[in-house]
Amino acid sequence: MNDAPHAADYTIPQGWEHYTQAEHDTWLTLYDRQTKILPGRACDAFLHGLAALDLRGTGIPDFRALSEKLRALTGWQVVAVPGLVPDDVFFEHLANRRFPAGNFIRRPDQLDYLQEPDVFHDVFGHVPMLTDPVFADYMQAYGQGGLRAGGLGSLSRLARLYWYTVEFGLLRTAGGLRIYGAGIVSSATETVFAVEDASPHRLGFDLRRLMRTPYRIDDFQQVYFVVDSLQDLLDVTVNTDFGPLYADLAASNDLAITDILPDDQIFTRGSQARVQVVA
Ligand code: PHE
Ligand code: FE
Repeated sequence: MNDAPHAADYTIPQGWEHYTQAEHDTWLTLYDRQTKILPGRACDAFLHGLAALDLRGTGIPDFRALSEKLRALTGWQVVAVPGLVPDDVFFEHLANRRFPAGNFIRRPDQLDYLQEPDVFHDVFGHVPMLTDPVFADYMQAYGQGGLRAGGLGSLSRLARLYWYTVEFGLLRTAGGLRIYGAGIVSSATETVFAVEDASPHRLGFDLRRLMRTPYRIDDFQQVYFVVDSLQDLLDVTVNTDFGPLYADLAASNDLAITDILPDDQIFTRGSQARVQVVA
């Protein structure tokens, strides 16, 4: 996060007028690269959202126009922030149906990897799913849950839920597994890896189990969790009181990322070959 002046809620003007043509071109390059590989891999809700928002346009979207469209669909808006924001600020935005998006775009030499979420990840990756009424409610509920969660131990568990759903979630469909996670759909390489590679485990979504599972931020995921439907995801999270769950989890140990438990619903048992190569 940079130190530029920002409001108490960390929002800044997007400064759309200041993007260079080269920056718009980076958006278009990334957009075209992703949209070529997403059909048959991303879920329908994502692809419909992408079309409804006309996100290619002529480059990086102007958040003012984007928010108008999104507000008409599900009541969400996109607000600009300098980068990652503190947890409480983030939760407060989500709870009020505002999605905070980084306003900067990666450099041309960073097309495949960067550490902080930029406007491509945040807008291309996250915003299409916010056009889906069920997912829109899930994101708001997540923010409300974050505001309630309290202590650090609970926040790290709640962060795992975000990671394995909002960022890296897979959806079971009649046509096979499909991606809804923003971290996957905004990455050319992980888009293919997440649905096709033999290396990662793909396991059924189980809230308590998932919250015991650490995650890695430095490579493709070693495990993905599959929800039966977005409605199921919303129902199980909204109808579960996380208070007792946090207390229970505080007293139990974390799993290893690659553990498979007797109760796991296994879609694919991964070879974990990628990890051995990297290690
Ligand atoms: N039901 C959760 C709680 O009791 C909140 C929550 C809802 C968290 C939806 C994530 C998603 O805190
Ligand atoms: Fe993200």
